[in-house]
Amino acid sequence: MGEVKALGYLGFHATDMAAWRTWATDLLGMQVAGAPSEASEDALFLRMDERGWRLAVEPAESDGLAYTGWEVGDPAALERLVDDLAQAGVKAVEDPGLARRRNVERLVRCTDPDGNPLEFFCGAYIPEQPFVSPLGVTFVTGDFGLGHILQNVADAEAAKRFYLDVLGFRLSDIIEFGPNKVHFTRVNPRHHSLAFVQVDQPPSLGHFMVEVSDLDTVGRALDRVNAGMARLTETLGKHTNDHMVSFYMMNPSGSQAEYGCAGRLVDETNWKINTYSATAYWGHKVPGSEYSADGPVSPRVPA
Ligand SMILES: [Fe+2]
Repeated sequence: MGEVKALGYLGFHATDMAAWRTWATDLLGMQVAGAPSEASEDALFLRMDERGWRLAVEPAESDGLAYTGWEVGDPAALERLVDDLAQAGVKAVEDPGLARRRNVERLVRCTDPDGNPLEFFCGAYIPEQPFVSPLGVTFVTGDFGLGHILQNVADAEAAKRFYLDVLGFRLSDIIEFGPNKVHFTRVNPRHHSLAFVQVDQPPSLGHFMVEVSDLDTVGRALDRVNAGMARLTETLGKHTNDHMVSFYMMNPSGSQAEYGCAGRLVDETNWKINTYSATAYWGHKVPGSEYSADGPVSPRVPA
């Protein structure tokens, strides 16, 4: 229980590799990385920090999240995690070939209750060359991992059993609005590394979030979006629960990306699980409408 330390990497399938490259580098400020020696030459690897890569994009017939890499501390933790999964009836397979393609020391893979490919790994590769953002962006990563993801799931109870009870992710809080109930879960002090909400549609990635060092970096990225580099899906706003000041846009693989700063950290000794009635204190509106992403705008009770 509780072996996962961080959201380590994400892999995407893409029908338009050139769009991904431009979006990730010229809009987000990520750096194109050299591919691991055994990885596909067609894939795009992106750096956000000292790690060899944090996002990988592979050409495919359709767009979407291809895999999620969850990081554990060491090989012993990886083996304990495999035992935890086995006890829950989930078969996890060690895959040395895949570990080489991801440039990690060891890797086991399984699927979550929705069939999403998960990879648990340790021993990430850190090259001697420093990360240099083409836009001078500093991402907030390190022990907090690359950011967070929100998954649209078929069955929230099944997701809770798998991620909370089996993997030991900790519930940070809940946002309830209309028919939606979003669970936010953490694996380190970052408020959440995984959120999930039950939907009637097929399971999918809702968005992934990357955090940057300051508001000016967020504002400059928003300027680039407003200049036409991506489609804005939620205006600048501040989240109720994690305090992130962020905006949302479409990513080239058909889901959304959140770009923000000033996310709060969880103090484990004093944290209490709250339930919020809205996702934002202000902003996060659907562009061009008076509607927020939560539904009709209504007076919000200050927290
Ligand atoms: Fe988010």
